[in-house]
Amino acid sequence: MDYKGSSIISVDQFDRSSLTTLFELARRMRPIADRKEHSKALDGYILGNLFFEASTRTRMSFASAFYRLGGEVNNTVGVTFSSISKGESLEDTVRVIEGYCDIITIRHSVAGTAKIAADYCSIPVINGGDGDAEHPTQALLDAFTIFEEKQKIDGLSIAIVGDLRFGRAVHSLAKLLCLFKNLKIICIAPEALQMPQALVAQMKNHGFEVTLTDNFENGIKDVEVIYKTRIQVERHSGELGEFPSKASYILTKDKVINGCKKDVTILHPLPRLAEISTDVDELKQNAAYFRQAKNGLLVRMALFLLVLGEDNKM
Ligand code: NCD
Repeated sequence: MDYKGSSIISVDQFDRSSLTTLFELARRMRPIADRKEHSKALDGYILGNLFFEASTRTRMSFASAFYRLGGEVNNTVGVTFSSISKGESLEDTVRVIEGYCDIITIRHSVAGTAKIAADYCSIPVINGGDGDAEHPTQALLDAFTIFEEKQKIDGLSIAIVGDLRFGRAVHSLAKLLCLFKNLKIICIAPEALQMPQALVAQMKNHGFEVTLTDNFENGIKDVEVIYKTRIQVERHSGELGEFPSKASYILTKDKVINGCKKDVTILHPLPRLAEISTDVDELKQNAAYFRQAKNGLLVRMALFLLVLGEDNKM
């Protein structure tokens, strides 16, 4: 993929070499993220950070990534404080914002919104999550974290657990993992919340051994990575009301110590609710989810530099 000037809408845009470029640059971002080194690579650039749906990590790490590289950020948080609440269309909103900013990041509850925004403006748009469809930057930081923790992705056994039907992070992750080889994927969810058929087919067609199960304890016992997710209640209609509690599959310190491989890596896009009990945090080697959240800053810094064509300043 040619990053410069591109909108980042889906993980489908990536190939293995564009991932390598991104991850190498992301690693070089760590001293800048930690303020041990300083950069003005994005001096003069303005980010339009448009979040029409709840967010802490994605919104703040996009903004902090831009600030750490010397840029400025204009935030819009929630529909209430945007002219969309007056009835303005998203198409008009982004056409106006392109006059004020150099790049847009957007999160919206409706699938396909980031693509519409990109189609209607001439500056790059980065998808920060569109409904239940995609969350490409989350999948990029997830894959980066697996690399950092395991030094490889090819050949790993990965359990993906929780709301696999409505979770956009796991949809993007399942597709992105198809850039790698010989994975064993165990999708752990109640039947009503299982991974969409199309994604299971994509992984199988790619040669992965894919198992669908609702048995949490069995599913996690032999894997090298557990990717836990929250039940996406906000996207459930009434008839799914009783699933959240059944589907939580709570991971405890005891289950990690007595029911998993010793060096299992535990990931979660966060926010976590009850599905990872806080005593798991004590297992510093295994519990990688806060390192994962920090990695989001590095990956988003690298992505901005590449899309804005300023990576050569590093
Ligand atoms: C995820 C999301 O918004 O899809 N959160 C995040 O960006 N880290 C996962 C979630 O909300 O459960």
